[in-house]
Amino acid sequence: MSILSVKAISSLHAEFSVPGDKSISHRAAIFGGLSNGTCEISNFLPSEDCLNTLKAMRSLGAKFDILEELEGYGPTRLRIHGQSMKLSAPEAPIDCGNSGTGMRLLAGLLAGQEFTTELFGDASLSSRPMGRITKPLKEMGANLETLGEKAGCAPLKIHGSKLQPINYEMPVASAQVKSAVLLAGMFAEGITTVTQPSTTRDHTERMLSKFRVSIRTDGNKITMAGCQTPESCDFAVPGDISSAAFWLVAAAAKNGSRLLLKDVGLNPTRTAILKVLSRMGAHMTETVHSSGGEPIGNIEIHGAPLKGTTLLPEEIPNLIDEIPVIAVAAALAKGETHIRNARELRVKETDRITTTVENLRKMGVDVEEFEDGMIVHGCKKLKGAQIESHGDHRIAMAFAIAGLFASGETVIHGADCINTSYPGFAEHLNAIRHERSNPEHFTLPTI
Ligand code: S3P
Repeated sequence: MSILSVKAISSLHAEFSVPGDKSISHRAAIFGGLSNGTCEISNFLPSEDCLNTLKAMRSLGAKFDILEELEGYGPTRLRIHGQSMKLSAPEAPIDCGNSGTGMRLLAGLLAGQEFTTELFGDASLSSRPMGRITKPLKEMGANLETLGEKAGCAPLKIHGSKLQPINYEMPVASAQVKSAVLLAGMFAEGITTVTQPSTTRDHTERMLSKFRVSIRTDGNKITMAGCQTPESCDFAVPGDISSAAFWLVAAAAKNGSRLLLKDVGLNPTRTAILKVLSRMGAHMTETVHSSGGEPIGNIEIHGAPLKGTTLLPEEIPNLIDEIPVIAVAAALAKGETHIRNARELRVKETDRITTTVENLRKMGVDVEEFEDGMIVHGCKKLKGAQIESHGDHRIAMAFAIAGLFASGETVIHGADCINTSYPGFAEHLNAIRHERSNPEHFTLPTI
């Protein structure tokens, strides 16, 4: 297992782009593979999670050609050959690695096929709840077994069956559940409706529209008729705002800093992090320069002394992946930051309430833990520490950012998990540490 060592920086001045969006790359591989022709996908995220989904689609018949590659990682531009909704049985069980998104979306896709498939993942994925998707899928007529040692967990055995449409009220605000039901609904005759308790990321809906599948959103209710074949199209994946969040926090908390992040996805169901950092005192401007399908733009941020804030309940689903790094910003801010109503964090790649609290405490932060979140008492000096990622990419990266503000050395153990979502993070960290503000001097190509 690799380690990442980080020391404090005195200032931060940089301009660059973060890699493609993870949620959108998964969906581009899936919908491209279902479409009725070839689709060129650019700025695809060559992370382990997304590569697993791409390989899964290949094993289901959707071949792809690599047009550009990030050396050592995988394709960033590719052409996928859609199968017009007719997938074929894979030769072997499908490995979803560490990815809840990959497994839950593929389960929805596979529920209505004419063959049996098995989906498996690593130890973390095998302990995450799958009942949230097996319940609605079974109500649609799917025949699924959870084979895991832990009840209701992966591996999943999916015996494809004829599905009926569903009118489903989701008990948890989860874009993965919504997308799994919609993917199953694509193979059911009739109207599928999903109602979410609060707004979650809408990449599936936007991508289906882009592929000319007729889908309607009315508040939190999404309605779609089944048996529509997506029309192939080319797709440019925006930069991942969840990856941008690490640098935004670093810049926000460093007084006098300036950071320009280019071509970031600014989908309003993902931008709550920007609102939170503004409330905490960061100065920020966003400029949307393209809005076909997914809004894309630049974010310029200037650091300032930060103050604590309270995350609003309705913001939580829209910044759920950013909470570990928001907790780091909170530790560097004056006053208290209240992060509550975030119980979902306990069923991510790790129990992110426990792993965040444990690592903050190691760095000398005063933090109270609750069943549904934490209260961070900010503004004590951070001290360098030995940090355990517990195999969770967002924990590893959040605490690498904390290390930029800590005395002494911060060592992230198990840093290789970062490749599940951000290939090149260590290179970007290095470039920032050495004040290479000119993007031409960045060692990593701005993918
Ligand atoms: C995702 C949805 C979120 C998020 C995950 C990606 C998606 O999970 O945490 O990283 O791409 O749909 P939930 O749907 O479980 O909230």
